[in-house]
Amino acid sequence: MDRTFLMVKPDGVQRALIGEIISRFENKGLKMVAGKFERIPEERVMRHYAEHAAKPFFPGLKAYIMSGPCFLMVWEGKNVVAVTRAMIGATNPAEAAPGTIRGDFGMEIGMNVIHGSDSPATAEREIAIHFAPEEIAAYDRIDEQYLYE
Ligand code: RTP
Ligand code: MG
Repeated sequence: MDRTFLMVKPDGVQRALIGEIISRFENKGLKMVAGKFERIPEERVMRHYAEHAAKPFFPGLKAYIMSGPCFLMVWEGKNVVAVTRAMIGATNPAEAAPGTIRGDFGMEIGMNVIHGSDSPATAEREIAIHFAPEEIAAYDRIDEQYLYE
C-alpha cells in the first residue's frame, strides 16, 4: 500500500487541531501506521526542508517549525499522497479551497497548519528522515473490504 508523511505543524498543535485533522484522514478511509509528538531537532528540520534552504523564506520557516512540538505521522492508503495533498489544500491558506484543512483552518502562508509529502518519492525520503522502520506498524483495518473494491 502507498505511504505518505504528514505532520501537524506547531500552529496546528497550539490551536488543538491534532484530533480534528486525524479524524478527517481516518474518516476518509486512510490508515495511520506511525505517529509521534515531538519538537523536531534542527538537523532533521534542515534535511526535511533541504529543497527550500536557499530561499528567502527559509529562516522564518525553520523558526516556525522549531517553535514548538509537532505531531508526525505515516499514513497508508491507495494513492495516499495525492489524496492527502487534495485534502490539505493550497500552500497559502488564504487561497486554499473551503473544505480543505488549510482552507478551513488557516489565514496565512507562514502558518499553514500541516505538512504533507508532495510525491511518492518525497514521501519515502521524508518517512526515512523522521521514522525508524520499527516505529511503523503495519496492520489491516477491519473496514478495508468496504473501502476498496
Ligand atoms: P509543505 O511542504 O509544508 O507541505 O507545504 P507545501 O508543499 O504546500 O509548500 P512548499 O512549497 O513545499 O513550502 C514549504 C513550506 O514553506 C512555507 N512557505 N512560506 N513565505 C513564503 O513565501 C512561503 N512559501 C512557503 C510554508 O510553511 C510551506 O508549507
Ligand atoms: Mg512541500
